[in-house]
Amino acid sequence: MMILGIETSCDETAAAIVQDREKILSSAVASSVKLHQKTGGIIPEIAAREQSRFIIPVIQESLAKAKIKPEQLKALAVTTGPGLIGSLLVGVETAKSLAYLWQKPLIPINHLQAHLYANWLETKRGTPKFPAIGLVVSGGHTDLVLMKNHGEIKWLGGTRDDAAGECFDKCARLLGLGYPGGPSIALAAKNFQKGKTKNKFKLPRPMLHEDNFDFSFSGLKTAVLSEVKKLKEKKQFNKLNINQLADEIQEAITDVLVRKTRKATEKYEVNSLLLAGGVTANSCLREKFKSSILNSQLFIPNPSLCTDNATFIAACAFFNYQPVPWPKIQANSSLEIEEMIK
Ligand code: KG4
Ligand code: ZN
Repeated sequence: MMILGIETSCDETAAAIVQDREKILSSAVASSVKLHQKTGGIIPEIAAREQSRFIIPVIQESLAKAKIKPEQLKALAVTTGPGLIGSLLVGVETAKSLAYLWQKPLIPINHLQAHLYANWLETKRGTPKFPAIGLVVSGGHTDLVLMKNHGEIKWLGGTRDDAAGECFDKCARLLGLGYPGGPSIALAAKNFQKGKTKNKFKLPRPMLHEDNFDFSFSGLKTAVLSEVKKLKEKKQFNKLNINQLADEIQEAITDVLVRKTRKATEKYEVNSLLLAGGVTANSCLREKFKSSILNSQLFIPNPSLCTDNATFIAACAFFNYQPVPWPKIQANSSLEIEEMIK
């Protein structure tokens, strides 16, 4: 049984074919990141235009790589939200047209819920057991959820302002490092760690000790801005200090994510912890989770499955097989997990 997944929520245009829930037959991803590097962030109009340029070639590539014909597909699955509305529209309208043309069922998929399903793909260590805590950390979201079963998700908390990935991206911009900020901050931090000196910067760990599962990252960004201003005034805004600040930013973000998530696994006594989203490609975060989560089984997707692609869209469709008549399927930029499950 094969499902074609289509993902166009942001600046990646992706299509993938997954067989029998967890086998990736093909995955094609085109990205407009190079255009956004010039502006240091995503311009939604440009992202949407690039989506319409890439969508057909990417779907063709996924079918060709998997060596299958549309007739062999069981269904199509498409991200309907949340995301950038112009980008979402391209994927949703293409999927609706193809479902009509090929006379296949179409399954609307919530992008955030789908990120978690990267943990059910190509699993050699077995599949997650419920109940599970899920941490979704991406460029637009930071959410902690309790997953009681497939389709039974309770939102526990999330960021009150910037997402963790957004914080990486904005801090990288303040430091003059490249976009996307996560990988460039991780690289600068690694360069600092090579020097084996103690970090002289101390940034806040926002909301760490509050008795809830919420996060806040905009204050951290302001603290970095203030350090950058001081360094510029003292004419010390140099490579060594930039790398050192990058290291402390990474430590601060990952400390908060790990400690609050651990608290959730303890409170709900879950069997599994599922990490998902682009930020979980971060090796410092992965190592911290590996050494501090002992009460439940930890699942972290391969780094290539953490960032946006369509394999987890198709995987999510297998476990939440709810085809909807395609005229009713709409792109929605603000669709949240629980709303989608209802
Ligand atoms: O899940 P994703 O690909 O797209 C969204 O759904 O938003 O996540 C993108 C985010 C960006 O903010 C990017 O800076 C961050 O994931 N990211 C990382 C790393 N790789 C990507 N953050 C920290 N470390 C990384 N290695
Ligand atoms: Zn994503």
